[in-house]
This record gives sequence, C-alpha cells and structure tokens, in this order.
Amino acid sequence: MKTIHSYWAYIVLAILIFTVVNAIIGLTQKKEFKDKDLRLGLFTLIVSHIQLLIGFAWYFMSPWYKALKDPAVSVMANKELRLLAVEHPITMILAIVLITIGWSKHKKKTEDTAKFKTFSIFYGVALLLILSRIPWSNWF
Ligand code: HEM
Repeated sequence: MKTIHSYWAYIVLAILIFTVVNAIIGLTQKKEFKDKDLRLGLFTLIVSHIQLLIGFAWYFMSPWYKALKDPAVSVMANKELRLLAVEHPITMILAIVLITIGWSKHKKKTEDTAKFKTFSIFYGVALLLILSRIPWSNWF
C-alpha cells in the first residue's frame, strides 16, 4: 500500500499541475472551455480520489497510526511523526475536498472564463496544500 501510494502520488501531482496550468492559461487567454478541459478536471478528480482511498488504506495499517493510539508516544511533540500521522493526512483530505468542490462548482458555471477561474482557484489552492505537506525527504 505504501509503495502504491508513493507511485500514485506522481500521477496525482503530474495531472493536477497540468490541469491548474491549463486552467490558468485558459483563463488569462480567454479560451473556449472545451471537452478536453472538462476531461482534465474529471481525470484529476478521479485520480485524487483514488489516492485518498489508497492513503486511508495505508494509514490505518501504518506505524504512524499506531503511534497516534499509543499513549506512550507523544506524536505532536515529534516533527516527523506529526507530519506523517496528522498534518499530511488532514491537509490531503482538505485538498481533495477543495478539488471536489471545484469540480461541482465549475459544472454550474455557464461562461467559459468562469469555469477556468473555478478550476484555477480550487484546484490551484489544493495543489499548494498538497505541495506544502508532502513528506519530501521520505519520498525521494
Ligand atoms: C492527494 C493526496 C495525496 C498525495 C499526493 C499523497 C502523497 C504522498 C507522498 C508523496 C508520500 C511519501 C511516500 C513515500 O514515503 O514514499 C505520502 C506518504 C504518506 N501518506 Fe499520502 N498522499 C495523499 C493523501 C493521503 C491521505 C488521504 C492519507 C491518509 C488518510 C495519506 C497517508 C499517508 C501516510 C501515512 C504516508 C506515510 C508513508 C510512510 O512513510 O509510511 N496520504 N503521501
């Protein structure tokens, strides 16, 4: 599970960055919102939800969750433990909630610029959150 989560993260990051850049270009150049833009947003939504499921599956069998339940271990006082057991999961869940809200909000917009704007904001903030709480030193 840990290995799948680790590799799937490359796909999540690649597609999310691509979708955000595509939305910003669409917004600034006032492009028409085409089928491919919709598919990019949908693909990002699906890929990130799959990562959420893999993340949860790994989390509950990981030593980080066990540490959280162990009264002898002070998770919050240890920077690395806090990142893996608390900060990373909570921030990633929040990021995926933003992606989900962004997806459903864009569907209600009628103008192309508004659709690109919604993706730029919601998927963009989600990307920043994800980048801020990836355990980079463990990953590479
Ligand atoms: C967009 C969502 C997510 C992304 C991009 C992501 C990405 C990553 C990356 C790159 C790592 C480092 C992997 C490694 O050490 O090789 C990691 C570790 C981890 N992730 Fe996620 N993650 C996401 C969501 C979640 C969620 C929702 C949970 C739990 C509810 C979770 C739990 C964990 C745990 C426990 C680790 C520590 C792995 C370990 O060293 O044992 N992740 N994640």
